[in-house]
Amino acid sequence: MSSSTTLYGGVSGRRVTVRDLTGAKERGERWPMVTAYDAMTARVFDQAGIPVLLVGDSAAMVVYGYDSTLPVTVDDLLPLTAAVVRGSSRALVVADLPFGSYQSSPQQALESAARFMKESGAHAVKLEGGRRVLPQVEALVSAGVPVMAHLGLTPQSVNVMGGYRVQGRGQSGDELMSDAKDLERAGAFSVVLECVPADLAQRVTTSLSIPTIGIGAGAGTDAQVLVWQDLMGLTPRPAKFVKRYSDLAGEMDRAVRAFADEVTSGAFPAPEHTYS
Ligand code: KIV
Repeated sequence: MSSSTTLYGGVSGRRVTVRDLTGAKERGERWPMVTAYDAMTARVFDQAGIPVLLVGDSAAMVVYGYDSTLPVTVDDLLPLTAAVVRGSSRALVVADLPFGSYQSSPQQALESAARFMKESGAHAVKLEGGRRVLPQVEALVSAGVPVMAHLGLTPQSVNVMGGYRVQGRGQSGDELMSDAKDLERAGAFSVVLECVPADLAQRVTTSLSIPTIGIGAGAGTDAQVLVWQDLMGLTPRPAKFVKRYSDLAGEMDRAVRAFADEVTSGAFPAPEHTYS
């Protein structure tokens, strides 16, 4: 990629790579990431130029209907990740390692990541945590697996954190900063910062040479990520940090009611929808 090409919408004819993300950081260029869980939405986001698609374990909630991310498994996420890879041709596709698939050892992390890379075609994996997952990050990177880290509100630890709350206030901000630096040293290519004070996220961003991706972390990060159902207005009660760019729930409600009315009145199907 030439240095004058932008990351968002600029890379064509090939997949975005982790090196492209480093280039964007060096140029001071911000970029968007969204979640995707199926081929058709992946295609829309890919064609819109979104450089990174995350098959988040948020699928547990927005696809499978659980009330946390904990129940979802590698077997649940593999087919969704494969669909997103098939639906996209340009975006870097990151697979989230679900709860219980990497915490016990570097070996377990490697086995889970290898399944995502071999069976779904994912280009990178994401895992949650700071110092406790450094051996996993080192093992993955030395085996050739690009790793996106995730600090701050790490939803897989919701039971330890006592709920979905802002992290990194006061002294715990220093711990988060040192975790971020350790993750960079261990070889992570980027780090998600979820629900942390904006000034902390800004300081982490300027202290690292890898990109930070914020969600509820203010405007000072290199990239921003949102769950697509949140940004499209499909989620009933989104968090404070979500901005809705559309009212998809309202639009779907309108459309399905119009379909139902036309079915019951006999207006659908019309002659133009009918084979002779
Ligand atoms: O699972 C997910 O969707 C995530 C993002 C919110 C960062 O981890």
